[in-house]
Amino acid sequence: MAKLFQRVPMQHLLDTTNLSDEQIIQILEDAKRFKHQRPPHLLRDKLLITLFFENSTRTRSSFEVAAKRLGATVVHLDPSRSSTNKGETLEDTFANLCAMEPDGVIIRHWENHTPQLLADKKMTSVINAGAGSYAHPTQALLDLFTMMEHFDGNVSGKTIAIVGDIISSRVASSGIRLFVRMGMRVILVAPQPFMPESNLPQYERLEEVLDEVDVIMSLRAQLERHATPLFDDYETYSKHYCISQDRLGDREILILHPGPVMRNIDISDEILKDSRCKVLEQVKNGVYIRMAVLKLLLLDA
Ligand code: CP
Repeated sequence: MAKLFQRVPMQHLLDTTNLSDEQIIQILEDAKRFKHQRPPHLLRDKLLITLFFENSTRTRSSFEVAAKRLGATVVHLDPSRSSTNKGETLEDTFANLCAMEPDGVIIRHWENHTPQLLADKKMTSVINAGAGSYAHPTQALLDLFTMMEHFDGNVSGKTIAIVGDIISSRVASSGIRLFVRMGMRVILVAPQPFMPESNLPQYERLEEVLDEVDVIMSLRAQLERHATPLFDDYETYSKHYCISQDRLGDREILILHPGPVMRNIDISDEILKDSRCKVLEQVKNGVYIRMAVLKLLLLDA
């Protein structure tokens, strides 16, 4: 995957490639501390604006909870009810929001380059909450944090299989860059149309890798991002890729999914209740990671 985002001064988070190793360690350590002890209102007097051009349950709420737990004020602009519907450009919308002097804008957009485009305007701190199929840095960080917790603080040498619609997934893109950097072995498991161009080991059959992986990250099939449907229905897909008890057996594999989970297609009901499955722990950890990211960007940087 090509490197889209350049290293930038630390007031922005466009992808984890913007972060130094020390900053990643700091985020993980702060998140761990925040999880065990609620911090004081370090960001009182700070104002954040969220601008989500795509739907979100977890990321938007998680950023808001994180900001409020640190005492910041959060304002949401819903693009579907904004003057973008009257023809105002994204750049003008952003400039007008910046005229209100926020300390940061948290943006989700369908274009890969949008966070970089807005950051280049140098008007406020830009935090990428998911852009196109390229980057979702806070998801990658919270996934790393969840794995670190599980493996006693060291993921180096562990093998993670990313399973499903990898080509459409910004979670996979950001995750691959971060996990490889942390010394993990990343392998890709997907039907051919869902497989990106990559130097990483690729498999079509999940059964081929089950005995060699420590972690499975299952992904949602994002049919809305495919021009033509790849499957007539999900039954064929789930028969081969659903993480089920039959498939997993008693293997000690950590199961992750960024959400939203398509039940019994990505992961079975039974496995979603299994202690190996950390989907809701990922969501919980997301708040602490985003608190740590906001502290780094708005206070420490
Ligand atoms: N993981 C994730 O990005 O979920 P949302 O789309 O609900 O924010």
